[in-house]
Amino acid sequence: MSSTQKPDLEENINVAQAHERVDRELAAAAREKRVDDQGAEPITLWVMAVCGIVAVIAGGILGAGGKLFAYGETFPENYVRASAPGTKDTGPLPKPAIDALIAKGQKVYSVKCNGCHQGDAKGNNNFPSLVGSEWVVGDSERFAMIILNGLAGPTSTGKSYPGGMPAQLGLSPEDLAGVMTYVRNNFGNSTGDVVSVNMAKQAIEISSNRAMAGKQVTGEELAANHAKNLPGDPMDPTTLVNPITLEPAEAAAP
Ligand code: HEC
Repeated sequence: MSSTQKPDLEENINVAQAHERVDRELAAAAREKRVDDQGAEPITLWVMAVCGIVAVIAGGILGAGGKLFAYGETFPENYVRASAPGTKDTGPLPKPAIDALIAKGQKVYSVKCNGCHQGDAKGNNNFPSLVGSEWVVGDSERFAMIILNGLAGPTSTGKSYPGGMPAQLGLSPEDLAGVMTYVRNNFGNSTGDVVSVNMAKQAIEISSNRAMAGKQVTGEELAANHAKNLPGDPMDPTTLVNPITLEPAEAAAP
C-alpha cells in the first residue's frame, strides 16, 4: 500500500487538537443559540398591549390639552398665509372702454347684422350701407331705435328697401352698446365715442315705451322723437372697463 494514495489517519490525527476543535464549535453553537433565545425572541403580547395603551393615552393628552397639535402655538393668532404673487384671481384685465366695446360689438355684428348689411357693412342691392350713414354716426338714440325696432320706409338716403328691416330682438344692453360702438367706429366710420352700457339700458327703456312699440320705426317717427343722443351716463372712451361686464373696472371689483 502506497502512502501517497491514502494517508495514514492513525498517525496524522492529533486527538487532543481534534477534541479542542470540537469543544470550540460546540461552544460557538451554544452561544448562538443563547443569542437567538434571548435577543430576537418575539415581544410578549402583554408588553405590546401596555405600549399601545400608553400611546393612546399620551396621544389623547397631547392632542386634547397639550401643545403638540395646538396650531395656536405654531402659528400666531389671526395668522393669514400670504398668497403667492400672481395666484390671486383678479378677473380679466381691464381694457379701455372703446376697445372692449368694439371687441364685444364685432361678435354681435357678425351674428346679428352681417347677414344683411354684409361683412364690409356696405350692403348691397337689398340692404343699405352703414358706412357714412347719418343714421349710424349721427344721433345715437335714432341709431338705437332702428336696431331695436327695425325700420320701415325710406332710409337716410331716401331709398326704400322692400320689407324694411326687422327688429333685432334679444340684444342685452352690453350687446347693444357693443354693436353700436363697433359700427360707429369701424368700416370707415369713426365717431371716436362709445355708447355705454348705461346708455344702452336707457335705449331699451325708451324703445319699450314707444307709442308704436312692436312696430318698425319710420324716418318720420325718428325725426319727431329720436333725433338726439341717448340719455344715461356717457363714458370716456379711455375709461378702463372690465371686458366682460363693460362697466368701469373699479366698479366690477367685489
Ligand atoms: C334681415 C336683414 C337685416 C338685418 C339682420 C339687419 N338689418 Fe339693418 N337694415 C335692413 C334693411 C332692409 C334696411 C333698410 C330698411 C328700409 O328700407 O327702411 C336696414 C336699415 C338699417 C339702418 C338704416 C341705414 C340708413 O342709412 O338709413 C341701420 C342704421 C341699420 N339697418 C343697422 C343695422 C344693424 C346695426 C344691424 C344689426 C344689429 C342690422 N341693421 C341688422 C336689413 C337688416
